[in-house]
Amino acid sequence: MEKITKRILSGVQPSGDLHLGNYLGAIKNFVSLQKEFECFFCVVDLHAITVWQDPKILKQKTREVAAAFIASGIDPDKNTLFVQSQVPQHAQLAWIFNCVARMGWLNRMTQFKDKAGKNSENVSVGLFSYPTLMAADILIYLATHVPVGEDQKQHLELTRDIAQKFNNDFNTDIFPIPEPLILGEATRVMSLRDGLKKMSKSDPSDYSRIMLSDSEEEIIKKIKKAKTDPMPLPDNLEDAKNRPEAINLLTIYAALNDQEIGTVISEYGGKEFSQFKNDLGELASSKLSPISVEMNKLLQDEKYLDSVIIKGKERAINIADPVLNKIYQIIGLFRG
Ligand code: TYM
Repeated sequence: MEKITKRILSGVQPSGDLHLGNYLGAIKNFVSLQKEFECFFCVVDLHAITVWQDPKILKQKTREVAAAFIASGIDPDKNTLFVQSQVPQHAQLAWIFNCVARMGWLNRMTQFKDKAGKNSENVSVGLFSYPTLMAADILIYLATHVPVGEDQKQHLELTRDIAQKFNNDFNTDIFPIPEPLILGEATRVMSLRDGLKKMSKSDPSDYSRIMLSDSEEEIIKKIKKAKTDPMPLPDNLEDAKNRPEAINLLTIYAALNDQEIGTVISEYGGKEFSQFKNDLGELASSKLSPISVEMNKLLQDEKYLDSVIIKGKERAINIADPVLNKIYQIIGLFRG
């Protein structure tokens, strides 16, 4: 099999409305990386069902993520944009990885612990084995690089361990050891209500996150209401690091404006939050509302959106199927 050197796979769950963290931590980076890499971008619906999803809205949420990819600037002709459940090879390889990964490895996953909380006896088996499916998403394409936000780092380390163990166990070099790409200033966007909590789809407060579907007015209002401390903005990075809400807003500003955080601090350090929040509100709405307008336009045109997803499925299967075949041969599974 030819050696691939610059292939990306990344995925986003259709489990709720996409927010600024998904955009700055992942999707915005996908857009820049598409120039340099061969890219596979996946709506990971099988991951979403590890927790309950309403069957009446899951399909729509899946289309919304695909629309967000395109509206943010991912070219669906140049890249493979598809839905995970349409490519059965992901789940087939995930089973094999369930037999490669060790219980101890999965037991260490902090995201599972956070999500299961005190309820770990009662969550789905899928939630526990979630990272082996994620490893399969990546390795079925022999992807070499994976752009993600900071919260996925541990899952990527597990993917590397699985690839390494498979290669060692079967004395092969089929799998690359994929590199995480955790890029930009906003690798971990925090809640607007609590600078110590990650911005997430599951936070009960709408004011904790800016959604890609928010109107300009909503974005400006949410930023105005964002929690801050009573002091003026910090004038150096060290002080900023000790002020979670301040550094979060500064980071968001830097990432949206393609600047370094130091530059934003030198512009706003010592100033009042009210002025900064006005500017951040303007900046965020000017960057995000064109995406939401375009997303809505795409969602009106279901025929087009579905045609993109179906084309993506075919392209994905064309790559994934021969890789799975090779893996079956390596393992010694019956091929007739
Ligand atoms: P998901 O759907 O939770 O998030 C999608 C992407 O958004 C990033 N992200 C954030 N980045 C910065 N700040 C935040 N507050 C924030 N919240 C989310 C995530 O890091 C992610 O890059 N397990 C993955 C989906 C997945 C995947 C994959 C990713 C499945 N298979 C294969 C890469 C490769 C997840 O739940 O992402």
